[in-house]
Amino acid sequence: MKNIRPISDPAKPKVYIETYGCQMNVNDSEVILSILQDDGYVLTENMDEASLILANTCSIRDNAEQRIWGRIDQFRLQKRRRTGVIIGIVGCMAERLKDRLLDGHVVDIVAGPDSYRNLPALIKAVTPDSPQMDVMLSHEETYADISPVRMDRNGISAYISIMRGCNNVCSYCVVPYTRGVERSRDPQSIVREAAEVFDAGYKEVCLLGQNVDSYLWREPGAPDRTVDFADLLEMVAKTSPELRVRFSTSHPKDISDKLIFMMASYPNICRHIHLPVQSGSNAMLEKMRRKYTREWYLERVAKIRSVMPDCGISTDIIAGFCGETAQDHEDTLSLMREVGFDSAFMFQYSERPGTLAAMKYPDDVPPEVKTSRLNEIIALQNTLSKASNEREIGKRHTVLVEGVSKRSSEELTGRTSNNKVCVFPSCGHKAGEYVEVEVTGCTSATLISRPV
Ligand code: 5AD
Ligand code: SF4
Repeated sequence: MKNIRPISDPAKPKVYIETYGCQMNVNDSEVILSILQDDGYVLTENMDEASLILANTCSIRDNAEQRIWGRIDQFRLQKRRRTGVIIGIVGCMAERLKDRLLDGHVVDIVAGPDSYRNLPALIKAVTPDSPQMDVMLSHEETYADISPVRMDRNGISAYISIMRGCNNVCSYCVVPYTRGVERSRDPQSIVREAAEVFDAGYKEVCLLGQNVDSYLWREPGAPDRTVDFADLLEMVAKTSPELRVRFSTSHPKDISDKLIFMMASYPNICRHIHLPVQSGSNAMLEKMRRKYTREWYLERVAKIRSVMPDCGISTDIIAGFCGETAQDHEDTLSLMREVGFDSAFMFQYSERPGTLAAMKYPDDVPPEVKTSRLNEIIALQNTLSKASNEREIGKRHTVLVEGVSKRSSEELTGRTSNNKVCVFPSCGHKAGEYVEVEVTGCTSATLISRPV
């Protein structure tokens, strides 16, 4: 594993990187930094001193892209003030918009998620009159051999990408078009990376993929020898009982009994599953092409809880998808109550050009209805999160300390195995330690506790 070299060398060019979007993008920025560091760059957190400014972008909703257009306007000022500054837009928005990003004459480099190895060459080829673009998607690229330069800074928890791309064509989603086809990374390279981060002092890894349950590695030359996600999880969990293992994201259609039992048999695999449901209405699920029903989803939740009663379950929900009726919306609320999610990410539907939904279904739920439905969903989730946290009061948990709490320098913060944020008086403990606590109180977002 490589680390950021803290001593800044004035002779070396500096790169400033902004990251938008998902955890996968955070890890991609770490891959980009590794590639650029090998090419002589050093990272700076000050855009004003960078000769290369990169934005690693997200296209998932229109507002994510609008934010980045706003940033491009800011980058224009940098170019006016300092000659020779190179501006690069990389990641999902680069893949989606391609040369349209060059229109305003601000952007010099456009690079899609599979083109990062080519960045040094693109940078060298840029001139004021010839911007450079590489948006080729790949069937093979997994950056397996690249050691990401960790930018997380807490030094406790590291992301490891285990696969790239996505083969599910959920009708609302732009990701298959921006990140290409699904490909799994060599498990040995994943296990090696987990061991490296553990040796470097990290205590937690989070295995990342768009749909981790469809991870599948076929041994080259022996295609009947395979490693599925449950196997991989076990291989990583065996790194050390002191290394916690998390993963994201699971797909309700693919999450297997084998995986659930594998989680249960290793205490260091965290008791938390992020299981996006998107909607509680079968009509909406069908239109979204999620390939499961409300009943299937509830059965999977029941299975998880029968094997691991203490397992945290979080979700993603979209409000106001095409044709959503008041009854469909009620179905989402009732499913939320039935499951009692521990937490959720909640969004208004945003039509994405080029997706199946954009081509087939009118975006016909009026904006004010979307907003009011989303507000109801958020209000309900706040109650559910509070209730979920209240159920923890009086219980004991092992917390992996991530650092000092924002609220008070006398308190530490970390997460429980079931992914709840927990604060407690430091009592001499420090980041990276496992601390046994008893929960004494809570808010809807945080457990309040004391070491035992
Ligand atoms: N509009 C709104 N939310 C979306 N998501 C994905 N595509 C869209 C869209 N077009 C949400 C889904 C997904 C999460 C990462 O983003 O809930 O699980
Ligand atoms: Fe991540 Fe999807 Fe956004 Fe791409 S579009 S950065 S995959 S959330």
